[in-house]
Amino acid sequence: MIATDPQTLIPCPYEKTCSGCQLLDIPYGYQIKKKTSELSQLLKEHGIHTPSQIDFMSAGAAYLRDRLDFSLQEGRLGLYGKNSREIVDIEVCAQLSPELQKWYTEFRKIKWPFTKGSIRLRVGPDGKRGAWLDFANIDIKALLDEQLILKSLLEHAFVEIGQRRKVPVWTGNEFKLKDPELNTWFTTWIQEVPVPLYCHIASFTQPSLKANTLIADKISTWVGQFPDARIIEFGSGIGNLTIPALATAKTVLACEIDALSLEGLEKTVLMLPSNLKDHAAKLTIYRGDFQKKILQDFSQFDGVLANPPRSGLMGFLNPLESLQPQQRPPFFIYMSCFPESMAKDMQRLQSYGYELTEIAIVDQFPQTNHYEVLSLLQRK
Ligand SMILES: C[S@@+](CC[C@H](N)C(=O)[O-])C[C@H]1O[C@@H](n2cnc3c(N)ncnc32)[C@H](O)[C@@H]1O
Repeated sequence: MIATDPQTLIPCPYEKTCSGCQLLDIPYGYQIKKKTSELSQLLKEHGIHTPSQIDFMSAGAAYLRDRLDFSLQEGRLGLYGKNSREIVDIEVCAQLSPELQKWYTEFRKIKWPFTKGSIRLRVGPDGKRGAWLDFANIDIKALLDEQLILKSLLEHAFVEIGQRRKVPVWTGNEFKLKDPELNTWFTTWIQEVPVPLYCHIASFTQPSLKANTLIADKISTWVGQFPDARIIEFGSGIGNLTIPALATAKTVLACEIDALSLEGLEKTVLMLPSNLKDHAAKLTIYRGDFQKKILQDFSQFDGVLANPPRSGLMGFLNPLESLQPQQRPPFFIYMSCFPESMAKDMQRLQSYGYELTEIAIVDQFPQTNHYEVLSLLQRK
């Protein structure tokens, strides 16, 4: 955890116009208090019995993000304005890690031959640069035909195009789009060892490599309190929490809807270094929409690890209902960037006999209203 002066204010020339950050006028120390008391209030409103302390883990007051989603609109590159559908042209952003800011500055030199589109830039753990160009089909065709922009972009970065994440390749006289390619765009940790995670630029990853070290550490500490646990995981994605959990778990059943993320996870475990290879055998992958229904007997698991989307766990919790209290998994780790749905799910878990024993905020989104919550619940 990084110690930050509570009086720290982060300068931003777009404070009054850009909608990206909402708390720039509040010193960081007060942001910490605000987020902590908001979460405490939310849990109280939902009748959740809360431990005496909510931990606050920070990787810094700004400059954390290693991926940025932004828009092109009429020659402007940036984020939406406050209460506006107009894009604010942003040259520097207090959210970006220094490496991503450098890449963004470079990227802004391109003059686009069309007026709108969505873009994601990334910088990977080894400094590799990536760009995902999510443009309309007609604009993608224009880009492939124009050739010069893509050629210069490919000198600086790996590029993915469109919703299907196709990769442009120069054949000698034209560009062709080939199938998506997995690369190591993110890192998680197994014990003290960094594990590169295979995925696409367009894949879901947490926003910041630096903040993710705090998350991986917390998850492995909590899972480590229950050695040899058989774990069922909701929303494994590319394996950011799966891999830390594998260190001490007996088995992990990773449940996930997104096939491309699971391809990444499969490649990551295949590529584990030889001293970690044994962990691969503990993992089983299970694909489906598990908010609707899950056909697993939860009494066969010692723990649940959940990191759902904004809508929360929904039907994934149904199998717990029909079990006897002592058949329910003894621990439940819940991570969420959407505390409202998490609090609702916790209400259900509390009614099934779980008690919130530890809770922490990981401030992945300083200067904004958002934050990540990690919580450990245990069966009474
Ligand atoms: C917040 S992300 C977490 C991913 C991963 N734990 C990480 O830290 O990178 C939520 C994950 O839940 C998955 N998901 C969303 N809806 C789902 C569903 N109905 N069934 C299973 N997985 C789902 C998403 O594809 C995504 O990978």
